[in-house]
Amino acid sequence: MAFADYQNEIYLDGLRGVVPRLPMTFAQSEAPALAALPAAVRSYVAGGAGDEYTQRANVSAFERWGLVPRMLVGAKERDLSLDLFGLRLPSPLFLAPIGVIGLCAQDGHGDLATARAAARTGVPMVASTLTVDPMEEVAAEFGGTPGFFQLYTPTDRELAESLVRRAEAAGFKGIVVTLDTWVTGWRPRDLAAANFPQLRGNCLANYTSDPVFRSRLAKSPEQDPGAAVLLWAQLFGNPLTWEDLPWLRSLTDLPLILKGLCHPDDVRRAADAGVDGVYCSNHGGRQANGGLPALECLPGVVGAAGALPVLFDSGVRSGADVVKAIALGATAVGVGRPYAYGLALGGVDGVVHVLRSLLAEADLLMAVDGYPALADLTPGALRRTG
Ligand SMILES: Cc1cc2nc3c(=O)[nH]c(=O)nc-3n(C[C@H](O)[C@H](O)[C@H](O)COP(=O)(O)O)c2cc1C
Repeated sequence: MAFADYQNEIYLDGLRGVVPRLPMTFAQSEAPALAALPAAVRSYVAGGAGDEYTQRANVSAFERWGLVPRMLVGAKERDLSLDLFGLRLPSPLFLAPIGVIGLCAQDGHGDLATARAAARTGVPMVASTLTVDPMEEVAAEFGGTPGFFQLYTPTDRELAESLVRRAEAAGFKGIVVTLDTWVTGWRPRDLAAANFPQLRGNCLANYTSDPVFRSRLAKSPEQDPGAAVLLWAQLFGNPLTWEDLPWLRSLTDLPLILKGLCHPDDVRRAADAGVDGVYCSNHGGRQANGGLPALECLPGVVGAAGALPVLFDSGVRSGADVVKAIALGATAVGVGRPYAYGLALGGVDGVVHVLRSLLAEADLLMAVDGYPALADLTPGALRRTG
């Protein structure tokens, strides 16, 4: 089935008087989704670092690029499929890791819901270290869709190794190490509410279920939850350096992907150290309000990555954004906040709706503008508009 068929489904439903229950754009989903979330989760998900300039710039950066229409191509069928880390994927879209996604579902099990949406759509989920349900239970919901595990590398190396071993055993197909969050950025919205979800014991299941983590506690996390949170706070943030990279590489034979790389020199150094992929992202502007949109960094990262696949996220809000990121050289494109809002509004169906909408729009854009395959989307397909 072509991704564009979602449009036909909606119009055909309309003939029976059925209109979509869920918003058709990110902009329309924002207010109702945030209203559906508890206040503490709302500020954590919607907010970013500083005055949130970078967060906004991530989004507006896409407006500075336009796809040049090509006619008489006859792009009746489009091919959005690709090979990534030896996996055949139906599209370049993936679900970026969201640490509190568990809390965005009305039943409090958003990690499982997201994994079920991945199973239904074939869009891979990158599951965060910070989940409500342990990674084994999340992975069990993937169906035939591959999933990736995002590692926040703890200071305790044995614990890091244990998390990676568990991810391997649970069937994850790659390890995404996030580099930009060993310390939390300055987030005024969360500070105003003096709220940091993990310090309140949320989303720590991968730790409290871990044998190494448990072995570090005098009493079990069930008996003394406060001590577990304290231990988590002590070992969460690891200010990794290049000297740690050989150790990280030695932890697994799974594809190793570094998240947060934006400078070409960092990309070259990571490639030399034997990583399998690089992930260009500024964490959606949640970490550093430095002002540079992630999309502006993408061409440099792609240029330095050589043959390595480049994953990208930060600011993707539409199918057109997905197409533009691919044209700028991304191999795969991550969606973040939009699926969190879909989940808040409609559970598994809400995430599926967001993913199918993004894919249908991308597919139809490629049809109308005459770019039948991902390989046709090159920088030459874009024109700088602003
Ligand atoms: C609420 C929230 C929690 C996040 N948690 C994580 C996380 O646990 N690990 C991680 O690598 N990135 C995390 N991210 C960053 C996302 O993976 C992604 O980089 C970001 O959402 C992209 O920005 P966008 O959502 O504005 O497009 C989080 C993002 C949000 C919005």
